[in-house]
Amino acid sequence: MTLHCDIITLFPDLVQPVLGQSMLKRAQEKGLLETRVHNLRDYTEGRHLVADDTPYGGGAGMVMKAEPVFRAVEALRRQYGESEAGTSLRLLLPSPQGRPFTQRLAEEFRDERRRLVFVCGHYEGIDERVRLGLAPEEISIGDYVLTGGELPALVMIDAAVRLIPGVLGDPESAERDSFAESLLDYPHYTRPAELRGLAVPEVLLSGNHEAIRLWRRKEALRSTYRKRPDLLRDRSLSDEDRRLLEVIVDEEAKEASV
Ligand code: ADE
Repeated sequence: MTLHCDIITLFPDLVQPVLGQSMLKRAQEKGLLETRVHNLRDYTEGRHLVADDTPYGGGAGMVMKAEPVFRAVEALRRQYGESEAGTSLRLLLPSPQGRPFTQRLAEEFRDERRRLVFVCGHYEGIDERVRLGLAPEEISIGDYVLTGGELPALVMIDAAVRLIPGVLGDPESAERDSFAESLLDYPHYTRPAELRGLAVPEVLLSGNHEAIRLWRRKEALRSTYRKRPDLLRDRSLSDEDRRLLEVIVDEEAKEASV
């Protein structure tokens, strides 16, 4: 399984260093991820390589021109053809107006056979004809506005790549992830057993695997109950989870009353 990603950007130097480090680097070395960064400047017209212009109708800021984006996407289509796995394109436009990026979508990207092509917008916006003419999927990584689509593209690639078997050292880590099943993570500890007066919970030192499993499940539920109760409302609970949650609700109520 290889994830194929293309990033069309005016700022290749912003993107390349991140792809060249840590897990994203290792995934590429292992052939699990393939990335190509395309400089949008190479698709601009004229001597001055202009990528942006003032907005029709006036107003502040600059608008990214549509024609270089069309040319870049057309060049990729020509290069990759439109048939085999890893050759046809799934066109993505990171944008605060897009559909929310979630763990579900990261899984969908991991399983995608087409190339993921990220068109990174910049300046105050991108000429609407990119949306009208190329119909990219708009995806948002959150309700805030960033300066460009590069960081969102990297966020989405990172979230998808770590789900590919063989990218993380331990194949179970992605499965027991926070959000793999809409629960937050349980607390983690490593040596020493006591640090600045704070002890590691006894059960984790007990060697009792079933007790540890139950404790972790309970603490994942507790963390979700405290920090993201909305996630619990959206999911159905097993009998065990329901029992643990009843205990947690009791414990939290007692804690609140002291
Ligand atoms: N571009 C600017 N802000 C963004 C956001 N929140 N998500 C995706 N792309 C963006």
